[in-house]
Amino acid sequence: MNKKTILNMKEEISKLFLDNLDMKKLNDLKVEYLGKSGKITELSKGMKDIPNEEKKEFGMLLNELRVLFNNNYESYKEKIETEELNKKLASEEIDVTLPATNIKTGSPNILEHIIEEVEEVFMSMGYDVVDGPEIEEDKYNFELLNIPKGHPARDAQDTFYIEDENILLRSQTSPVQARTMLAAGGNKPIRMICPGKTYRRDADDATHSHQFMQIEGLLIDKNISLSDLKGTFDTIAKKLFGENCVTRFRPSYYQFTEPSVETDISCFVCKGKGCSLCKNTGWITVSGAGMVHPNVLRNCGYDPKEWSGFAFGFGAERLAMLKYGINDIRTFYQTDLRESITFDRKDVE
Ligand code: DAH
Repeated sequence: MNKKTILNMKEEISKLFLDNLDMKKLNDLKVEYLGKSGKITELSKGMKDIPNEEKKEFGMLLNELRVLFNNNYESYKEKIETEELNKKLASEEIDVTLPATNIKTGSPNILEHIIEEVEEVFMSMGYDVVDGPEIEEDKYNFELLNIPKGHPARDAQDTFYIEDENILLRSQTSPVQARTMLAAGGNKPIRMICPGKTYRRDADDATHSHQFMQIEGLLIDKNISLSDLKGTFDTIAKKLFGENCVTRFRPSYYQFTEPSVETDISCFVCKGKGCSLCKNTGWITVSGAGMVHPNVLRNCGYDPKEWSGFAFGFGAERLAMLKYGINDIRTFYQTDLRESITFDRKDVE
């Protein structure tokens, strides 16, 4: 090694960084010059042959080479990194003037939809939409509704009890009738509907669900008769199932109404001729109803000599299933979109 070799190497190093380098090439250069058998490293190994009095000078020259390489290396590295960062920033630039991507808004839950439809019809007839608790007292769910403890009518509604036999998950929305009458104080007319969840200890299948929705209705006033109920039911049936829908009452039994009826609509698929939907009867049952039992009026603070009224209870899922041709109640409550309901009944008016 002599000074010439070192000076040549200096020139060589200065030129190295004039080329276009990427990170890999840059690192390869580092290995080529400063690696274990790199060019500068090899020169340093020659120090042992340099006479002692010149060692200091050679040492300094070699160090200059190392510093020169490292400085060039570092600034080139920084240049590459800055370029990469700028490229990334440019590609991620947000154009605020671009139109926003479409958000899929979906559509209203079909059950909510039918409840809103029913609410609208009743509100147009002056009814209020009220709410009641889902965790209910036995008193409201049964007793005030003329179903005392131990009465066989309770068996029809296999109930979820909570803690003791006085607190339960309401098995029907009818307790809201009692609550509304008591809150009104026995001297005001009432028009209300109450849509809400109800619970029964039923095994789930295509037509049963341990949780389902009912739409309760109650009208209290003076001189109310069964024909008022018929007129009201006719109106709602026509609004929901079309102007040609015909209705009928069949005698039935509920502990809280007297007389009690099952309300039927003419089958909207076969128009009364008989088909699989109406089981060849031409009629479809959509709710239970009746004139509020005098005991219930009395229990809830209304004098049955002065006041009368009617009540009804629709199954919301049943209405939706009929109207939209859904054949399994469980589809309302599952969240798997692949299994979601398709509304394909074209024959609904
Ligand atoms: N609560 C009854 C049930 O769940 C339905 C019902 C029938 C409600 C007649 C009423 C009614 O208000 O008058 O089976």
